[in-house]
Amino acid sequence: MAEEPNMVERTEPAKLEQNAGSNVKQVIGIMSGKGGVGKSLVCGLLAVEAQRKGLKVGILDADITGPSIPHMFGIDNQRITMMGKFLAPAITSTGIKVMSINLMMNNPNDPVIWRGSLIAGAVSQFWTDVAWGDIDVLFVDMPPGTGDVPLTVFQSLPIEGVVIVTSPQDLVSMIVNKAVKMADDMHVPVLGVVENMSYLVCPHCGERVEVFGKSQIHDIAKEHDLKVLAQLPIDSKMAEQIDRGRVEDVPEGLIDAKQVVEDAASARVRDALASGGFSFTTAPEAGK
Ligand SMILES: Nc1ncnc2c1ncn2[C@@H]1O[C@H](COP(=O)(O)OP(=O)(O)O)[C@@H](O)[C@H]1O
Ligand SMILES: [Mg+2]
Repeated sequence: MAEEPNMVERTEPAKLEQNAGSNVKQVIGIMSGKGGVGKSLVCGLLAVEAQRKGLKVGILDADITGPSIPHMFGIDNQRITMMGKFLAPAITSTGIKVMSINLMMNNPNDPVIWRGSLIAGAVSQFWTDVAWGDIDVLFVDMPPGTGDVPLTVFQSLPIEGVVIVTSPQDLVSMIVNKAVKMADDMHVPVLGVVENMSYLVCPHCGERVEVFGKSQIHDIAKEHDLKVLAQLPIDSKMAEQIDRGRVEDVPEGLIDAKQVVEDAASARVRDALASGGFSFTTAPEAGK
């Protein structure tokens, strides 16, 4: 049978298999065009919010050279243990399962200086060798940027959707373009963008100050037909909570994690239908 030239197909056939100790229903990557924009924070917030909504949540920290998830959840002192032939993830105070290279090091302050291939190998093992148990959504804190390392992580994990995190600084349009292009090349749907450090609320008068200039995120999102999932303020109290390992205490409702999970699920249905010979872009509007 002739192949449909315009059919959407995933680059890799479901990539690595799940092991016998894992039943992960959904894998969502958090990516950023560059480092330091709050990618890990957004990953942590999504996990916390999803957990609050009653989902079973895990975080796979794939940012091997900059692992900040354990610190954010105050679990730096936990160590990964063996469970039969698998590794058992660490568990946060609210029950989120976490796997990070920092939880396997004698001294978590030592830098990890590894080549990309070695990093990708470790990340693959976080999937193949960890008994994740029942997980509704596994959030992956991706390595920053759009270079070789995030690319190999994309190729090795069964990521079904990505959230792009950006900050309202110079070149944001180009940075988002690159991240969207990378996701497109990997045939992974972009579930939306989060603009972090979007503004500051003046503690004296309550005025909203756009520290980095006027946000362009809505224009950029429109250009790529993406949802703006959240615009998060610069918040010194939140920064402090995170630094004390209390991300699970941040106020509720900063980001709609449930919507992200639902969007990823419907993207998967579309994907399945497309590869089954159907193709459609959006659901028909009512009354049309
Ligand atoms: N909206 C925010 N308000 C205050 N501090 C923030 C905010 N977003 C991130 N930070 C702080 O900035 C630093 C970098 O954030 P992080 O999530 O680690 O970035 P990335 O993972 O993109 O490198 C962290 O110390 C974090 O606590
Ligand atoms: Mg980080």
